[in-house]
Amino acid sequence: MQFDPNTLSIKDTHKLMISVIAPRPIAWVVSQNAKGQLNAAPFSFFNIVSDDPPLIGISVGGAERGVPDYKDTARNIQEHGEFVVNIVTRDMMEQMVRTGVDYHQSVNELEVAGLATLPSVTVKPPRIAGCPASLECTRFQVLDFASHRQFIIGRINMIHVKDEAVLDAAKCYIDTPKLDAVGRMHGAGWYTEMKSWFQLRTPPRPD
Ligand SMILES: Cc1cc2nc3c(=O)[nH]c(=O)nc-3n(C[C@H](O)[C@H](O)[C@H](O)COP(=O)(O)O)c2cc1C
Repeated sequence: MQFDPNTLSIKDTHKLMISVIAPRPIAWVVSQNAKGQLNAAPFSFFNIVSDDPPLIGISVGGAERGVPDYKDTARNIQEHGEFVVNIVTRDMMEQMVRTGVDYHQSVNELEVAGLATLPSVTVKPPRIAGCPASLECTRFQVLDFASHRQFIIGRINMIHVKDEAVLDAAKCYIDTPKLDAVGRMHGAGWYTEMKSWFQLRTPPRPD
C-alpha cells in the first residue's frame, strides 16, 4: 500500500512516520532557563547529525497548552544554549514517562519524577544520575521549520559513559548492550529493549 502525506492529516502522517521509522533512540534532555530553573523531557525524534563536528539533532514540536507555544526544552535552549542528553534504561522508563507530561514551565520534572542529578563538566544543566550515558551539549544551530516547531542541533562537548560499559577506554570501545537503552516504537507508548543483536560487516569495495 502507499500513503501520500500530501493528502493525509498531520495526525495520520505522524502515525505512519513513527510506525515505520522505528525503533528510535530517546534523548532525555535536561535544560535550564535564563533564571536557572531546571527542566527534563524525553524526545525520540533524535539522532546523530555529524561526527565531525560531533552533532546531535532533536526535533521539538509545539506545546499543547491551548495556545501555540514552544515546549520548555526548546525555549530553554533558545534562552540558555546548553543542555544534556541522557540515555534512558529499561528500569528508568517509568520516571522517563513522568517527565514527558506537558507541565507548566515553572515545574521541574526532575523533582516530579524523583530523579537525582550529577554535575556536568562543561555546561550548567546537570546530567541525570543513573543514566548509562550522557552528552553535554551546546546549541549549534536551530532550524525553525513550522510554528513553534524546531530542529535543534547540539554540539557535544563531553560524553559520559558508565564505567561498567567501557571495554577499552584507550580505544574508546563501549559495550553498547550494557547501556540497556530503550527505543521508542509506534502508537501509544510502545517501546523496545535491546534484547538481541548480530554482527554483519560491510564488505570491502572490490578494486
Ligand atoms: C518517549 C517519548 C518521546 C517523545 N518524543 C518527542 C519528540 O521527539 N518531540 C517532541 O516534541 N515531543 C516528544 N515527546 C513529548 C515531550 O516529551 C513532551 O511534550 C514534554 O512535555 C515536553 O516537555 P517540555 O515542555 O518540558 O520541553 C515525547 C514523549 C515521550 C514520552
